[in-house]
Order: sequence, then C-alpha cells, then structure tokens
Amino acid sequence: MVIVYESKTGFTKKYADMLSGMTSLKSYPTEDLSKIGPQEEIIFLGWMKVGKIQGLSKARTRRIIAVCGSGTGRTAEPDLDTVMARNKIEGIPFFYLRGGCHPLSEIKGLDKLMLSMLVRILKKSESGDEKNAETIYNIENGFDGVREENLEPIIDWLNTKSYEY
Ligand SMILES: Cc1cc2nc3c(=O)[nH]c(=O)nc-3n(C[C@H](O)[C@H](O)[C@H](O)COP(=O)(O)O)c2cc1C
Repeated sequence: MVIVYESKTGFTKKYADMLSGMTSLKSYPTEDLSKIGPQEEIIFLGWMKVGKIQGLSKARTRRIIAVCGSGTGRTAEPDLDTVMARNKIEGIPFFYLRGGCHPLSEIKGLDKLMLSMLVRILKKSESGDEKNAETIYNIENGFDGVREENLEPIIDWLNTKSYEY
C-alpha cells in the first residue's frame, strides 16, 4: 500500500508527508504514478478545485482504496454526498482534510481570478454569515488548517481494516 497525492501549493503534500510518517507508507506525487505497480493499493490525496478532487482521474488507472480531498472549508463543500457523487467515489471511503491557502496577493493566473470572483460573490451575498466571513478572510489573508489530528479518521479506518502498513 502506498500514498499518492496531487498538491498545487503544498498543503496536500504536507498531509501526504504526515500520513507517510505516521504509517511508514511510501508517498508519491501523481507524476510518479508510473513507479507504482498496477496491483498496489493506493490511498489518494488531492486538492479540491470547485468541488473536483484534482489528480484523481489520473490515479484512477490504479487500485485506489481510499480518497482524501483537501480544501479550505471547515467541512467538504457543499456537502459530503455531493462531493462523493461529483467525483464518482461512491463505494470508496472518502475523508475530507482541511488544507490551506496562500494569501490571494501571492496567487497567480486563473486560480487568482477564480478566487477573486468567489470573494466578490461572497461579499455581495445576502447571508453574510460567519462561515462566509471566515472564507473571505482566509482567501484574502491565507490560512493553514493542516493538523495531524485531521488524519485520525484515516488512521482509525486503516486500523479497523487491519491493513498491513
Ligand atoms: C481555483 C480554486 C478553487 C478552489 N475550490 C475549492 C473548493 O471547491 N472547495 C474547497 O474546499 N477548497 C477549494 N479551494 C482551496 C484548495 O482546495 C485548498 O486550498 C487546498 O488545501 C490546496 O491544496 P494544495 O496546497 O495541496 O494545492 C480552491 C482553490 C483554488 C485556487
């Protein structure tokens, strides 16, 4: 069993490194998929972009036994079932990991455009609730939600499955 991850700005990689340290499983970026045998079981970690888990379709050619999505929300957005359906991972254990983001001023290109649009929409939105305010603040100022304890559900799942790692 190995860990495979797709990370653009480093937060998902931090989780992959942490999980690797906690389990002794080897960790590979998706670029190194060719180094992994077709029968090898994979725990996949990918960053989320508008609800889509990045890198997952590339890794689907292999034996994925669990999927983790990292995003900035407190929980998977809009909700767990929608994320699972959108990414076609029904039947595979899914774990949401709160990742992080760099300040908007440091982000470039299309990602910056998309996040700026989101901030504008949220600022205009009627609800103005605490969650929206937090999202706006985190995007504008940056945020690091990576915590070892967020990996506990995966560790518990691995233990109940008695996987050897
Ligand atoms: C264009 C864009 C879209 C994003 N969409 C989502 C999203 O739909 N849900 C979410 O929780 N996080 C979203 N994020 C936040 C990233 O998924 C989050 O910051 C992730 O932890 C980054 O991981 P990385 O550092 O490994 O690339 C988005 C970020 C960008 C730049």
